[in-house]
Amino acid sequence: MTSISIGIDVGGTGIKAALVDTSTGELASSRIRIPTPDGAEPDAVAQICKELISQLEAPSSALVGVCLPAVVTHGITRSAANISDSWIDLGAEGLLTAALDRRVHVLNDADAAGVAEMTYGAGRNASGVTIMATLGTGIGSALFIQKTLVPNTEFGHLDIGEYIDIESYASYGAFQRDQISQEQWGKRLEKFFAHLEKLISPGLFIVGGGASKSHEKFFPFIKVKTQLVPAETKNAAGIIGAATMAVQYL
Ligand code: BGC
Repeated sequence: MTSISIGIDVGGTGIKAALVDTSTGELASSRIRIPTPDGAEPDAVAQICKELISQLEAPSSALVGVCLPAVVTHGITRSAANISDSWIDLGAEGLLTAALDRRVHVLNDADAAGVAEMTYGAGRNASGVTIMATLGTGIGSALFIQKTLVPNTEFGHLDIGEYIDIESYASYGAFQRDQISQEQWGKRLEKFFAHLEKLISPGLFIVGGGASKSHEKFFPFIKVKTQLVPAETKNAAGIIGAATMAVQYL
């Protein structure tokens, strides 16, 4: 039996969506994208989500998972990275449920990507403690004990050594901004992963985000004891994880 849900990944520049067969983690439609409206205000984002769902011709019973770059507790967005500050302390799940007239679950984008990897990707056989990191404009993180998510870890905002907010130094955005070599970037990332190793002693690091497609260029420069592997679900991870969590929660 197939189980089709809708996954939506809200980012600072684009809002992406697809139907997901949550029994396999496969996309059940093509992935569609609409640019994020200027300012990424909640109502405008909700309208884009509505438009995406209508383009997907989703079954009326399909649950919706929406992930975004924010801490989310009990359906309330508690922070906002690259989206409007109006999301802070907003009842995002209520707003989207009303706007879409469907059952909606809202979660952090890196947590969603991590769920996709732990369920269908590089972490599917992992046991113990796993950390997923997404390398994009910022650094997202997701922490798992066995397959259970410990949500909202926000490791990208750790202060490490002289670096306040490690994502401003080691993210893919920082790599592009500072025009450094892959080796220099790998060494910056090593500081991040070595620090996490010291704090958490994970059994596995999974590295996702757009840059993980060319992981062989910078992985060799990240010298840590813990096994480090690229994500397998690539840039649909947020969509797949959001749809999966919707089924789990709703
Ligand atoms: C945000 C996180 C988000 C990550 C990736 C960070 O700046 O604080 O909530 O998961 O970026 O988008």
